[in-house]
Amino acid sequence: MTLATKKMLRALKGECLSPPPVWLMRQAGRYLPEYRKTRADTGSFLDLCYAPEKAVEVTLQPLRRYNFDAAILFSDILVLPHALGWPVAFREGEGPVLKKMESVAELPKADFARMHAHLAPVYETVKRLSKAIPETTTLIGFSGAPWTIATYMIEGGSSRDFARTKKLAFSRPDDFQKLIDLIVETTGEYLAAQIAAGAECVQIFDSWAGVLPEDAFRRWVIEPARKLRAHLKKAHPNAPVIGFPRGAGPMYVPYVKETNVDAVSLDTTVPLAWAAKHIQPHCTVQGNLDPLMVVAGGAALDQAVDQICAILGDGPFIFNLGHGIVPETPPEHVARLVERVRLAR
Ligand code: CP3
Repeated sequence: MTLATKKMLRALKGECLSPPPVWLMRQAGRYLPEYRKTRADTGSFLDLCYAPEKAVEVTLQPLRRYNFDAAILFSDILVLPHALGWPVAFREGEGPVLKKMESVAELPKADFARMHAHLAPVYETVKRLSKAIPETTTLIGFSGAPWTIATYMIEGGSSRDFARTKKLAFSRPDDFQKLIDLIVETTGEYLAAQIAAGAECVQIFDSWAGVLPEDAFRRWVIEPARKLRAHLKKAHPNAPVIGFPRGAGPMYVPYVKETNVDAVSLDTTVPLAWAAKHIQPHCTVQGNLDPLMVVAGGAALDQAVDQICAILGDGPFIFNLGHGIVPETPPEHVARLVERVRLAR
C-alpha cells in the first residue's frame, strides 16, 4: 500500500516519476504566519521541539497550505548533542549557542538510555505524525551529520571559518575521531528510533561538508555517512536514507558511490547537467532550487523550476530547494512553485 500511494518513497526506491514528488527543506518555519503564532505561544525554540502536540501542529501547517509529498519531522539537528548532556540553547536573533568544547576529555559517554529518555518527546512526535499525515504523504525523519554536529560543539555555535574545528581535526585527528565516533554511534541509534516510531525515510544534514579538503572530506564526511547507512541497513533494511553533503562539489561523486545512500540532496551550486550525468546513475537526486529564487517569485521562479525539472526529470528525482527556505519567503510564492512542479511533464 505505502509504496503504491507514496510518490516520495517510490522516487527514493529509484522510480522516475513525472511530475516528480516535491517537498522543501525548512517547509515548516518562520515564513508562515501560523508558525510564528505557535512559536510566540511557546517558550523557547527547543521547548517547541520537545512538545509533541505543538511539534505535530507545526509539521502539519505547510501540508494544509500546499500539496507536498512529504512531511519532515519538526525538530532540530542540535537536539542530539543536547540529549548527550551537552549544553545547547537558542537565543532570539542569535541562533544556536552551545558549550564550546576545549578538549575531548570533556566528552560525555555514549549513554543510550539517557539519550532515548531525553528524545522520547521527539519519538512521540514521529509516532503521532505517522498517524496524522495523509496516506499519500511520506514522513521524513532527520539528524545532523557527525561533521556538522561536531562543528557546532567545537565552535560553540555557527561559524564563518570553522577554524577551531579544523585545528582539532588536522592537528589531533585521533582526538577528533573520538568525537566523530560518539556522534556516529548515537546518531545511528537516534535515526533507528525515529524509523521505529514511524519515520519512513531519513535525511542526514551535513550543512558544512563543503569546507573540507579532499582527505578530510573522505574521513569526516564520507566515512561517517557510510557507517550510518550501514547501521540503518541492518536495523531497518527498507528505510531509504538521503544524504546532504552541502557544498561538496565534485566530491558528491565519491560521496554517493562510497556511502551507499539511496538519494542525495544537491545544493544550489551543483550544475544540473553534471548531476544528471555523474550523480543520477548512482542514486535518486533531490534539489536544487536556490531558496532566494522563491523569494524572487514570478517568471524567474517559473523558469528555474522548469529548467530543474527538464534536466533532472529523466532520472529518479525529487524536487526540493538547494538549502532551507528563508524567513522572508512570501507564502504565495511557495504555492506557485508547487503548482509549477505539478505541471512538469
Ligand atoms: O521544516 C523543516 O525542515 C524541519 C525542521 C528543521 C529545523 N532545523 C527547524 C528550525 C530542520 C530539518 C533543521 C535542520 C538544521 N538545524 C540544520 C541543517 C540544515 C541547514 O539549514 O543547513 C542546521 C545547521 C540547524 C541548526 C540551526 N537551527 C540553526 C543554525 C538555527 C538558527 C538559524 C535559523 O534559521 O534560525 C536553527 C533554528 C531553527 N531550526 C529554526 C527552525 C524552524 C528557527 C528557529 C525559530 O523559530 O526561532
